[in-house]
Amino acid sequence: MVMWRSIKVNVHLAMLFLAPLAVAQSLPEDDGRVHEGVASCASAVCHGRVNEADDETVWLNEYRVWLRQDYHSRAYRTLMTQQSQAIAAKLGLPAAHTADLCLDCHADNVPAERRGARFQIDDGVGCEACHGGAGDWLENHAERGTSHADNIAEGMYPTDQPVARAELCLSCHLGTRDKLATHRIMGAGHPRLSFELETFSVNQPAHYSVDEDYVQRKGKPDTVAIWVSGLAMNAATLFDLLASEAYPGNALFPELSFFQCHACHHGMNDLRWQSDARAPALPPGSVRLNDGPLTVLLPALAVLVPERAEDIAAQLQALHAAAENDPQSLLDTASGISSALGAVAAALADRRFDASLQRSLRRELLASSAADRFGYFTAAEQAFLAIETLSIALGDSESLAPQLDALFEALGSETSYVPDQYAVRARQMLEAL
Ligand code: HEC
Ligand code: HEC
Ligand code: HEC
Ligand code: HEC
Repeated sequence: MVMWRSIKVNVHLAMLFLAPLAVAQSLPEDDGRVHEGVASCASAVCHGRVNEADDETVWLNEYRVWLRQDYHSRAYRTLMTQQSQAIAAKLGLPAAHTADLCLDCHADNVPAERRGARFQIDDGVGCEACHGGAGDWLENHAERGTSHADNIAEGMYPTDQPVARAELCLSCHLGTRDKLATHRIMGAGHPRLSFELETFSVNQPAHYSVDEDYVQRKGKPDTVAIWVSGLAMNAATLFDLLASEAYPGNALFPELSFFQCHACHHGMNDLRWQSDARAPALPPGSVRLNDGPLTVLLPALAVLVPERAEDIAAQLQALHAAAENDPQSLLDTASGISSALGAVAAALADRRFDASLQRSLRRELLASSAADRFGYFTAAEQAFLAIETLSIALGDSESLAPQLDALFEALGSETSYVPDQYAVRARQMLEAL
C-alpha cells in the first residue's frame, strides 16, 4: 500500500456530540433526498463544460475533472478488477459490483426509491455522494440570487465546513455504524485504509478554486484548521465505532480493524516493545487499539487547548487499561473520548492559525516524533502528514524539502517501518529549523 503525501510537495519535489456522532446535516447517503445521477449535473450548459468558465463563480467543468482525474469516478469500475473479484470470491460473494458490502463505499448506493430517472450505480462516487441528493435543489441552485445558504437549506451537503467534510470523507475512508472495511474484508485482500483530511482534500483533484468570490460566498478555508479538526474527527469516529454495538465481533475477538494492524502483523524476530516514551505505555504482548490519530492529536492539543489535553490523555490511558480487563468500561470510555473529541473538532474548525501558532504546532509534533512517541506506523504516518501540512502552510516546505523527504523515507513502507530511524530524522529536522 502506498503512503500518502500531499501532491503539493510531490510536485516540486462547545457543543457536545451525542453518540452516534452527528452533525446537523445527515450524510448524503442518509439524506432522504432523491439522488438524480451524475448525468443530471453533467450537461454542457451545467457542470459539463470542456474548459473552466471565466465569467462564472464556479468552474462548470467539474464533471470533466471528476471523470478524467478523480479516482472517485472509477470507484465502481474498481469493483470489476481482478483484485476485487478475488476479494469477493474469498468472501463468498457472487460478485463485488453487485454486493452492497462493496457498493456502499464504491458508489452512491442509495436505495431504489431515492434513485432519480438518470441515476446510474456505475457512476461510482458521483457528485451527489458528496454534495447530497439534488432532488430538491437541482432546479433552482443555479438561478441568480440563490445563495450557498439557500442551497444548504434545501439539502446540499456543506462540504466547505471542515467537520462536516471530515464526517463525509471518513464515512468511506474509515467507516460508519453501517459500513466498514472490516478485518475480514481486509483479510480477503482489501487495502488498509488511511486518511488525513487536509492531504486528501489536496490530493482529490480540485474542481474549484478558492478565489475572491469563493471566499465571499463561503469564507476563507484555513488548511491548519482543516487538518487538526479532521484529525480530531478521525479519532472521534474510530472510538465511536469501537463503542458502537455495530461491530461487536464474536465472544473471543472484537473487530480487529479497530486495533493497530502492525501490533499483530510483523515478524517475531523483529522485537519492537519498549517501556519508554511510546505513550501510553502498555505491557509487552498487548494488542494496542488504534490510537494512532489520537496520539498525534495529543501534542497538538497540548499547544492549542492545554486544559483539555491532559484530560483526554488520561481518558486514553483509561481506555487502554479497560481494553486489558474491563469490556464494559472500554465501551463507556471510548464513547466518552469520542464525544470529547467531537467537541474539540468543532471548536478547532473555527479557530484561525497564524504563523507563530503553526510553528509551535510543528515544533511540538517534531519533538514528539524525535522523542520516539510514535512507535506505530499509523501514528507516524499521521505525524508526518501533519508536519508536511504545517510546513506547506508556513511556506517553507521547499527549503525544508531535504528534511521532509528524509522523514518520509524513514517511514518506509508500513511493514518495514523502523521507529528509531523516524525519530532520528525528526531530530535532524528539528535541528534544521
Ligand atoms: C461514498 C464513499 C466516498 C466518499 C464520501 C469519499 N470517498 Fe474518497 N474514495 C472512495 C473510494 C472507494 C476511493 C477509491 C477509488 C478507486 O481507486 O477505485 C476513494 C479515493 C480517494 C482518493 C484517491 C486516493 C488515491 O488512491 O490516490 C482521494 C484523494 C480521496 N478519495 C479523497 C476524498 C475526500 C477528500 C473526500 C471527502 C471530501 C472523499 N474522498 C469522500 C470513496 C469515497
Ligand atoms: C468502508 C468503505 C469501504 C468498503 C466497505 C469497501 N471499500 Fe474498497 N476502498 C475504500 C476506499 C476509501 C478505498 C481507497 C483507499 C485509498 O486509496 O486510500 C478502497 C480501495 C479499494 C481497492 C483498491 C483500489 C486501488 O485502485 O488500489 C479495491 C480493489 C477495493 N477497494 C475493493 C473493494 C471490495 C471488493 C469491497 C467489498 C468486498 C470493498 N472494496 C469495500 C472503501 C471501502
Ligand atoms: C469526493 C467528494 C466530491 C465529489 C465526488 C464531488 N465533489 Fe464537488 N466538491 C467537493 C469538495 C470537498 C468541494 C470544496 C468545498 C466546497 O466549496 O464545498 C467541492 C466543491 C464543488 C463546487 C463548488 C465550487 C465553488 O466555487 O463554490 C462545485 C460547483 C462542485 N463541487 C461540483 C461538483 C460536481 C458537478 C461533481 C460531480 C461531477 C462533484 N462536485 C463531485 C467534494 C466532491
Ligand atoms: C489481533 C491481531 C491482529 C490485528 C490487530 C490485525 N490483524 Fe490482520 N490478521 C490477523 C490474523 C490472525 C490473520 C489471519 C492470518 C492467517 O490466516 O495466517 C490476519 C490476516 C490478515 C490479512 C490476510 C493475510 C493473509 O496472508 O491472508 C490481512 C491483509 C490483514 N490481516 C490486514 C490487517 C489490517 C489492515 C489490520 C489493521 C486494520 C489488521 N490486519 C489487524 C491478526 C490481526
